[in-house]
Amino acid sequence: MPDQIFAGRTVVVTGGGTGIGRATALAFAAQGATTVIICGRRKERLDQVAAEHPAVVPVAADVTEEAGAEALAHEVRERGGALDVLVHSAGVFRFTPLGALGPDLVREVLDTNLVGPLIVTRHLLPYLLAQRGNIVLVSSRAGHNPGPGQSVYAASKAGVHSLTRSWAAELAAHGVRVNAVAPGFVRTEAFEANGLTPQQVEGLFDAVTAGIPLGRVADVDDITPWITELARPTASLVTGQIVTVDGGMDTGADPAGQEG
Ligand SMILES: NC(=O)c1ccc[n+]([C@@H]2O[C@H](COP(=O)([O-])OP(=O)(O)OC[C@H]3O[C@@H](n4cnc5c(N)ncnc54)[C@H](OP(=O)(O)O)[C@@H]3O)[C@@H](O)[C@H]2O)c1
Repeated sequence: MPDQIFAGRTVVVTGGGTGIGRATALAFAAQGATTVIICGRRKERLDQVAAEHPAVVPVAADVTEEAGAEALAHEVRERGGALDVLVHSAGVFRFTPLGALGPDLVREVLDTNLVGPLIVTRHLLPYLLAQRGNIVLVSSRAGHNPGPGQSVYAASKAGVHSLTRSWAAELAAHGVRVNAVAPGFVRTEAFEANGLTPQQVEGLFDAVTAGIPLGRVADVDDITPWITELARPTASLVTGQIVTVDGGMDTGADPAGQEG
């Protein structure tokens, strides 16, 4: 059994119904968190996660709407008004070539990935300040190393990196830390949600694996330990940091060893 370092703590995880957010919520619960409030728009997915651990509290909420953020704040107040950790994992990928980018797609990606964390953090900030809590944002390697067809997604995640550093500077005086984890490729439903068939997803992962020095696409369990680690008291002097978990893609190494 893992240590119970988060015993007595309250955690909010956006996007907690699936993927990295789901695994993160369950990891905090396994490490003793008393309450782990998760949100997403699909209530049935949230309920499935809540059925896996009694600490998990599902709240159907859209992070792009003030009402969604307020629903999270209401749940925090109902449980004592103290928030120790806020994880922003809600997000959407939309890989689209420049010529096919329409304003609706741009707004969807920026609203979800950039405006969502802003709205939710603003609503939950009083409860974080009260606890000298901390924030972990799930950004992406694309935020500092964008590839083709990713321009708006990468811009949204570059914005998340800026939020991380700016909030870290702004909130340090209040004892609130802010960090981000920037994954490379991770096996989640996000790729099917982007319109790819399971076969196309496997084809994509095969293709990108050739460019990953450590030789494999990540699973959610490669990512969540870094999120919980940044939230732990052992990280009490760590803020404004972006931890990249991408199998070494950022090293620029040529996995085939063929670069001059
Ligand atoms: N998978 C990767 O390769 C990868 C790589 C780098 C970064 N990331 C980042 O990791 C985070 C989690 O993604 P994932 O891979 O775990 O994908 P995922 O399983 O699709 O998770 C995304 C979650 O966000 C929720 N969500 C989307 N829009 C929302 C909204 N407006 N309001 C509330 N919740 C919303 C979704 O739930 P509903 O649809 O039910 O609302 C879903 O549970 C994202 O920020 C993503 O950009 C992923």
